[in-house]
Amino acid sequence: MRTKIAGIGHYVPEKVVTNEDLTQYMDTSNEWIIERTGIEERRYAAKHKETTSTLGAKAARIAIKNAGIEPEDVDFIIFATLSPDYYFPGCGVLLQRELGITHREAAALDIRNQCSGFIYGLSIADQFIKSGMYKNILLVGAEMHSMGLDFSTEGRNVTVIFGDGAGAVILQPTEDDNQGILTTCLHSDGTHAEELAMINPGSHSGYHLGTEKYGYPDPSTPGGTFVTQKMIDDNLMAPNMSGQLVFKTAVVKFPAVIKEALENTGLETTDIDLLVPHQANLRISQFVQRALKLPDEKVVNNIQKYGNTTAASIPIALSEAWHDGRIQTGDLVCLAAFGSGFTWGSALVRW
Ligand code: ACO
Repeated sequence: MRTKIAGIGHYVPEKVVTNEDLTQYMDTSNEWIIERTGIEERRYAAKHKETTSTLGAKAARIAIKNAGIEPEDVDFIIFATLSPDYYFPGCGVLLQRELGITHREAAALDIRNQCSGFIYGLSIADQFIKSGMYKNILLVGAEMHSMGLDFSTEGRNVTVIFGDGAGAVILQPTEDDNQGILTTCLHSDGTHAEELAMINPGSHSGYHLGTEKYGYPDPSTPGGTFVTQKMIDDNLMAPNMSGQLVFKTAVVKFPAVIKEALENTGLETTDIDLLVPHQANLRISQFVQRALKLPDEKVVNNIQKYGNTTAASIPIALSEAWHDGRIQTGDLVCLAAFGSGFTWGSALVRW
């Protein structure tokens, strides 16, 4: 028994935000952003009308239709995001409600894992399909970064990189030996957890990083540690990133985890028909491409149009590549991601 991708879809919001548009809010330039990241524009969701779960639902409907099933056929939902609608409950149940999946066998799981969320979700789905527990798993990666970014110059190194969007796949069992997920590799190392993170609000109450900076009340006071006034006043509720550490680590981990997947399956880099890397930064993807000696036509890059959409980037890129006819039956497709945690992973899929 193997797991196959039976349907795929993606959705990006209509609103296009160019690099030039961002110069209204922060000291940046089109040239700086393109040179360092390759990004030309990104999409932002419509405030009051769209959320992470509704973006996910739009992508999911396309994937469900593409698989030739109905929403009520879905027996398990896996939702990967770092920008959920609510602190809790997670987006899985909101998507379930949005799609009207109400039968009593249905279940929804939310996963974090940031940029690696889709690969982690794929691996979880693969185990559930192979064990026979579920037959139609809907895996969604969706993000609405625009709601939580810092649009001042202070936040520019992070804000220019990220965009909103969603991608989804339907996973089903197959007995065809020549099709489906061949392997998944998952890794993490929490040593640098805070180097690419949004740590507030949260329960840490200064445990990892000291208390003073965040303005925590006397520890004997009940509550009051999730959000403090100082966090709001000092603009401490936005994502932060040590860009150079992320870059240096990513360019090592991406090729290593792809080679690991190839070794697991006895395949070579030359067997890869299409590499769909997490769209972290065009410079990172180009580095990985060179390390693996892959020609341009074997690597998908769409970060120029959408920015980095974290958990959504792989399913959006995979879906676009499929809709553009870049993936044929029998092709070996390699997916790989690296991101906050740090977490990273890869998957090899025979289409
Ligand atoms: N516009 C203009 N100037 C900027 C911007 C911006 N958006 N952001 C930072 N700068 C400035 C800095 O303030 C700094 O100025 P200074 O020299 O006067 O202090 C200068 O540019 C250089 O800053 P660095 O942070 O050293 O810039 P660097 O060359 O490292 O580029 C970047 C930053 C693009 C983030 C780079 O480190 C990088 O590509 N890192 C990888 C991180 C990444 O891709 N993350 C994606 C998300 S995580 C993931 O998906 C894996």
